[in-house]
Amino acid sequence: MKSVRLHVIGAVAGLVGIGALVLAGCASEQEQKGQELYNHYCSHCHGENGKQDVGFNWSSMPDPRPKDLSNGPEMSTWSDQELFNVVSRDMLDVGDDGDEIGDDDFEVPTMPTFKYTLSEDEIWAILGHVRKLHGMELQFNIEERRQQLEEAATTAQAKFDEANQAYEEAEEKANEEAERKMEELGEDADVEVDESLYADEEAAMTEAKEALDVAQAMLKNFSTRPGKGLSIPRPDLTVEPEQAAELAEYGGKLYVDKYGCDGCHSIGGEGGKVGPALDRAGFRLNGTWIYRWLKNPQAMKKDTRMPALGLDDGDAKAVTMYLGTLNASKDTSPTDESMNESAADEPAMDEPATDEPLTDAPEGAES
Ligand code: HEC
Ligand code: HEC
Repeated sequence: MKSVRLHVIGAVAGLVGIGALVLAGCASEQEQKGQELYNHYCSHCHGENGKQDVGFNWSSMPDPRPKDLSNGPEMSTWSDQELFNVVSRDMLDVGDDGDEIGDDDFEVPTMPTFKYTLSEDEIWAILGHVRKLHGMELQFNIEERRQQLEEAATTAQAKFDEANQAYEEAEEKANEEAERKMEELGEDADVEVDESLYADEEAAMTEAKEALDVAQAMLKNFSTRPGKGLSIPRPDLTVEPEQAAELAEYGGKLYVDKYGCDGCHSIGGEGGKVGPALDRAGFRLNGTWIYRWLKNPQAMKKDTRMPALGLDDGDAKAVTMYLGTLNASKDTSPTDESMNESAADEPAMDEPATDEPLTDAPEGAES
């Protein structure tokens, strides 16, 4: 008897040991993923160790420049959720005629959002690494968050099913009512179904459907990159000639004040150097290509460091128009030629009409 019990205890101890190993394995996998993603998407501005002035892009950036992610006393004032909100947010227009900015909104345009580029799970992995850079541990319970999203999606599905059933029943009743009237009045009578009889149920169903879509998208974005499989339809880039200049000017404001493109790209020697200089963008690149690139760069180059910044169609068109005016070259071809009708007539392009290859960073920048 005794030896059997010992065996059991041994087996249990063994299992506990394996369990701990598996957990440790997962944790370090998550840690490694966080570090890799940080190095790829953050280190050029924040430095590999989070220290100021270390990232190769730091000194070329416009103000305000990245602060010190390795500063414990400073960074400990941020909650995990606040850090998440900085990395995963919608960009706000901070220009003179931009939105009203609330006190609690993070509003530095040159800190790009990764909301449209990385999955929520990936962002938490990065933040686990960021916490380590200033000697802290991420407290946020990622597994609990995933479960909450799953439950929210299940609940939303049940609510939708219920609302949909109520709607179908109400509609059926309205149909029956109309049929009954028709029988009363005879075959030739012109009886219409009274839609007001199920308008409330229809509205409730539509609302429940929207809530379900949101809950399902949040669950999906937890583990899948939002831009994955998202194809950008061919844009209509035609502009009334009298509006072209105004739209391009507006695009230029968005470029700086809302999306902080100047944090990574230079024009006239001013601005970041994570991406190529854009002085000749209008000359080198086709408008349709630019538009698609801005909306979802990862669809065209999977591991590009340029994030999708959540440009809506109007903003993407304005910024595309603006880039079309950037024609610094010996060649003085007029802006309109590359941006308007001629661009729309060209066949769809998957590659930029480029005379230089796309590079991750200017040569030597990382050495
Ligand atoms: C193009 C450069 C750039 C990139 C890339 C970048 N950041 Fe930032 N980041 C900034 C700037 C600029 C600020 C604002 C500094 C300030 O508040 O004055 C900032 C602020 C932050 C803050 C708020 C802390 C603070 O002190 O203001 C966090 C957290 C942060 N970044 C994390 C990240 C993470 C994580 C990544 C990668 C997923 C990343 N950043 C990528 C430029 C960048
Ligand atoms: C975090 C840095 C970053 C930000 C922010 C950023 N880009 Fe980029 N961009 C890049 C990188 C890197 C490339 C080069 C593509 C590659 O090889 O991955 C690029 C490529 C481009 C290209 C193609 C350039 C060429 O010569 O082929 C255009 C156009 C462009 N970006 C426009 C923009 C605009 C407009 C914005 C703002 C809405 C923006 N970028 C924001 C990093 C950035």
